[in-house]
Amino acid sequence: MADGMQGVDVDYDGLIPNNVGLNGDERLKKALETWHPGYIDWWKDMGPEGFQEALVYLRTAVSVDPKGWAKFGFVKMPDYKWGILLAPAVPNRTIPFGKHKGEPVWQEVPGEYRAMLRRLLVIQGDTEPASVEQQRHLGATAPSLYDLRNLFQVNVEEGRHLWAMVYLLQKYFGTQGREEAEELLNRRSGHEDNPRMLGAFNERTPDWLSFFMFTYFTDRDGKMQLEALAQSGFDPLSRTCRFMLTEEAHHMFVGETGVSRIVERTCDAMNKAGITDPTATAQIRALGVIDLPTIQRKINMHYPLTLDLFGNEISTNAANAFNAGIKGRFREDKLTDDHALLDSTYPVLRCIDGQFVEQHVPALSALNMRLRDDFITDAAGGVGRWNKVIEKAGIAFKLTLPHQAHNRRIGEFASIKADPTGQILSEAEWVARVDTFLPTPDDAAYITGLMQPVHGAGDYASWIAPPKAGIDGKPGDFEYVQIHE
Ligand SMILES: [Fe+2]
Ligand SMILES: [Fe+2]
Repeated sequence: MADGMQGVDVDYDGLIPNNVGLNGDERLKKALETWHPGYIDWWKDMGPEGFQEALVYLRTAVSVDPKGWAKFGFVKMPDYKWGILLAPAVPNRTIPFGKHKGEPVWQEVPGEYRAMLRRLLVIQGDTEPASVEQQRHLGATAPSLYDLRNLFQVNVEEGRHLWAMVYLLQKYFGTQGREEAEELLNRRSGHEDNPRMLGAFNERTPDWLSFFMFTYFTDRDGKMQLEALAQSGFDPLSRTCRFMLTEEAHHMFVGETGVSRIVERTCDAMNKAGITDPTATAQIRALGVIDLPTIQRKINMHYPLTLDLFGNEISTNAANAFNAGIKGRFREDKLTDDHALLDSTYPVLRCIDGQFVEQHVPALSALNMRLRDDFITDAAGGVGRWNKVIEKAGIAFKLTLPHQAHNRRIGEFASIKADPTGQILSEAEWVARVDTFLPTPDDAAYITGLMQPVHGAGDYASWIAPPKAGIDGKPGDFEYVQIHE
């Protein structure tokens, strides 16, 4: 093993590929092997519906070397190698923030933070299988084999992320960790009695526009949470999250390019038909494409659901986790303040007596807000690129991220109604106008009608443009999924 590159070598031959020395840890190996059959049962019950026998062109993580960590090949999803991979240890790493700043990172769980850490792992872990469950019906309506393959790639990697969290729970949290690992297989997205833990992960993902919005926005919340946990003073968590982030980038790529290809196709069809008014809904829909205002309404639904995932703007839990050195800020290691935040403040938009007021609050208590602000900046990038596509096509329309107060269920703005521009509305005004903000039953029916599977190699549904490039450099007519019906 090269100096400073511990953990690069992956044992790929056993039942569970890993770079955590599983063969030298009988107790952990046994716990994971005991958990494995339940995971496979879960995958078969709640993973992608149909297609379990199909050969899918998937990437599998076989290394953690940033220069070449994945290999591509055809695999049946239940045979996918869900490995446990940690990014290489950083030699002499110290805790980057909080009251233990500068002390050596922990290789074992500090007793006083055990409950806090376990809770964070379980919440993160719960989102991974949840999204697989939410997306399980989408295979039936994929607009192409390329998209079908991307869906399954996201799904198997979310499965691997569950493994990643289960590894930490089983290795470091004893009996309680094993119980939590079981529970992660028992909760179900949207289930009345035993739902997943967070709101957005109990919503339906009924169509492919929703899927692309979910991967664009909600997977990006995942990215932000992983970025914050990658800073953790608990080193195994940091290394786990750092490697998960390399996979997560593809999920957001799927979302961003998915929406972009839909936008491109719509603009193209409008131009060919000589339609200049983006709100000429009936005419545009007659072309078999999704009108831009409908795409905006989908944004207005998915974006607030994702903002809700950041929790309350003012939070003592977030402050405690930071102080403890367990959960940092986005790219903490690139920030140049004191990394303790005891004396600093942070501006938070609050809603007081029905008015928006910016308040400077102690920075420690505003860490959720800060991470959410970083998310908003990050999410704005892709929206700008979607608008470039519209602009290039010469169509007068702009997609926007709605105001933070729009359509919220958690935090400062949960108790008020605001339109996408941030204008506060009465209940009656909201009811009168909500059909212009959020997807209507009519929108849903139209989109559902478009969702017909396209299985010809190199073929695409009417409402989405082909991608600019294939996966792994494959040509346009590559058969990414061999279905063998
Ligand atoms: Fe994930
Ligand atoms: Fe993801």
